[in-house]
Amino acid sequence: MNVLFLGDVVGSPGRNAIKKALPEFKKKYKLDLVIVNVDNVTHGIGTTRDKVEELMHYGVDYFTNGDHVYRFKEFLKDLDDKNLPVLRPANYPEVSPGRGFDVIDLGKLGQVLLINLMGQVFLRDTLDSPFKKIDEILEQFKDVKFAAIIIDFHAEATSEKKALSYYLDGKVSLIVGTHTHIQTNDAMILKRGTGYITDLGMVGTKDSILGENINSILEHYKLKTPHRYTLEEEGKTALNGVFAEIDSKGITKKIRLVNVDVLS
Ligand SMILES: [Fe+2]
Ligand SMILES: [Fe+2]
Repeated sequence: MNVLFLGDVVGSPGRNAIKKALPEFKKKYKLDLVIVNVDNVTHGIGTTRDKVEELMHYGVDYFTNGDHVYRFKEFLKDLDDKNLPVLRPANYPEVSPGRGFDVIDLGKLGQVLLINLMGQVFLRDTLDSPFKKIDEILEQFKDVKFAAIIIDFHAEATSEKKALSYYLDGKVSLIVGTHTHIQTNDAMILKRGTGYITDLGMVGTKDSILGENINSILEHYKLKTPHRYTLEEEGKTALNGVFAEIDSKGITKKIRLVNVDVLS
């Protein structure tokens, strides 16, 4: 199974880059499944139905989220729509809108269990332990044979992401970190066959700070005045993620960084 997982898509530059690049990627990598993180897809912060549907139209199959998932009130009910292929981190309270995992049917290739988790370190909302949550989810499905189990771990601290990867090595097929918007150079296959990267990076304006206008962030750091999100839309877009090849036993055989510039 060939999977493309892209990092946090930031606003219109991110969406446009996917529109431009994905058709060629689909051919080049013979993709069976395309997943992207949409924590910043709407004006650079949060997610809404229209932007998710736009990306579905470009060929994205499934969507994960993070700390901005509840940014837009009107999106809360959409998160409960079983027909909209969007997850929120599974370790939010049970009663929170949305679902944290889903089973994706890939026909002849089998079923994929996709799970979204969020870290506890350096993030605004303190959620349940992702370690405890993943144990519960894997226990729930212990009698099901999935073609692959894929996790997006939306977290700030590299150590927390590394810890989860070693905790789950051999139990899941692929773990990708998201949230920092900076791609790490550590795509690897762990001893027991789990593919891993600490952070996928982003799909957003390259000449920016996390997809935001440089001066707006600089001002915040220099003056300590409140910061308002200002999307950077000028220049080329960095398209970051990984391509992974997962075998019929759910083991990652190949993991490759995807890091290309897309001209707007
Ligand atoms: Fe993000
Ligand atoms: Fe985030």
